[in-house]
Amino acid sequence: MMITLEKFITTFLLSLLFVLFLSCNRAVIDMQSQINISALPEVAPAPKDNPITKEKIELGKKLFFDPILSANNKISCATCHSPKKGFADGLDRSNGFSNGLKTKRNAPTILNAVFNGIDLAGNLDPGNSPQFYDNRALSLEQQCIGPLLNPEEMKGTELSKENYIEFLEQEVTQIKAYRTLFYRAFSDSTATIDRITKAIATYERTLITPNSPFDRYMRGDLNAMTEKQIKGMRAFITTGCNNCHSGPMFSDYKLYVLGVEDHPGLQNYDKGDGRYAFRTPTLRNLSYTAPYMHNGSESSIEKVMSFYQRKRSKHPEVSKKDLAPEFRDLKLNPFDRSKTKEIIAFLEALNDPNFDQSIPVSVPSGLSIN
Ligand code: HEC
Ligand code: HEC
Repeated sequence: MMITLEKFITTFLLSLLFVLFLSCNRAVIDMQSQINISALPEVAPAPKDNPITKEKIELGKKLFFDPILSANNKISCATCHSPKKGFADGLDRSNGFSNGLKTKRNAPTILNAVFNGIDLAGNLDPGNSPQFYDNRALSLEQQCIGPLLNPEEMKGTELSKENYIEFLEQEVTQIKAYRTLFYRAFSDSTATIDRITKAIATYERTLITPNSPFDRYMRGDLNAMTEKQIKGMRAFITTGCNNCHSGPMFSDYKLYVLGVEDHPGLQNYDKGDGRYAFRTPTLRNLSYTAPYMHNGSESSIEKVMSFYQRKRSKHPEVSKKDLAPEFRDLKLNPFDRSKTKEIIAFLEALNDPNFDQSIPVSVPSGLSIN
């Protein structure tokens, strides 16, 4: 009798353990099938017609910091994308061409912009790499023309686009130090717009951060993230943040309607793609790039998180039924305090300060670097 009971209990306990083991295992498998976030590649891809060379990086960096590219000789790419501010500028909207003029949108970081459009497995076509909050440019080279010819950013209003390109090419070619740098990079000393954008894009390809604690964890260093950050990664996934913030960049490069607050300083509403949809931004290096959203309307991560906890439109033209279902259905509510904190801890694991923060001592135009 005793033996049978003992046997019974042992069998019972063993089967219980087995069932537990199975269900745990299933949980692990479920979790893995949902993991659609991954580490960044450690090198950036380049288009066939613009391979990365040391000479082009050197030239591109000078051009990036040189206000000579703007019509008033006051604004460089670095004015709005400063290494001191994570290659953004810390403002809600950037200071534009003239006093008091502000850009419509927040300057995003250009750290890892070379990876825009990358898929989960790390595949990326450099000629199909969407840039801007509405994906309107398709490569770094193409993007670069945007600010150069924008009357509110670098061109001003005096010259037409065609005339400004011609003016710029001549102005840069006239500077001897640039002729040397262009010759080294392109075996030709003339500064054409094509070469200017190719050199700047090449410099941008060096601005990558593939070694955040999250990247190191995903490559197998299980101590790279803290317990809280690992919990936060699970919470990020079970909440459904990864339904949009996916892949190595934490973006699916699609546009969604979230009903983000409009900027009170704008005369007309910024409609994004026309329906108030904006591109899913990267979540890498957020610690250096506040404020957030396409117009800088949320000043801190905590504020962004309470927006996600409420899941309500803050825009008068966007009603509840317009909101993206992936946003409305997030498994997060205003009472989820610890889950929210864990997610924030995880977002911190996406920071990596090991990028080139150096600013050239001088630029060939002799203008002062701001
Ligand atoms: C006056 C401020 C300003 C200047 C100058 C400026 N930018 Fe920008 N940049 C912005 C803003 C604002 C956006 C976002 C605009 C949008 O999405 O519609 C942006 C977007 C970008 C993006 C897209 C990033 C992404 O993830 O989509 C890149 C790359 C970029 N800029 C590079 C440059 C380069 C290169 C220069 C110099 C040739 C430059 N910028 C000059 C403000 C500026
Ligand atoms: C429906 C797709 C979607 C889901 C789900 C989603 N996001 Fe977003 N996220 C976006 C879009 C789109 C923006 C940009 C909105 C804008 O600028 O108007 C954004 C912006 C952000 C920003 C600001 C980034 C910056 O640099 O400005 C953070 C932080 C963020 N999301 C975190 C999260 C977290 C955490 C979750 C889960 C709780 C989440 N998101 C869920 C699409 C989504």
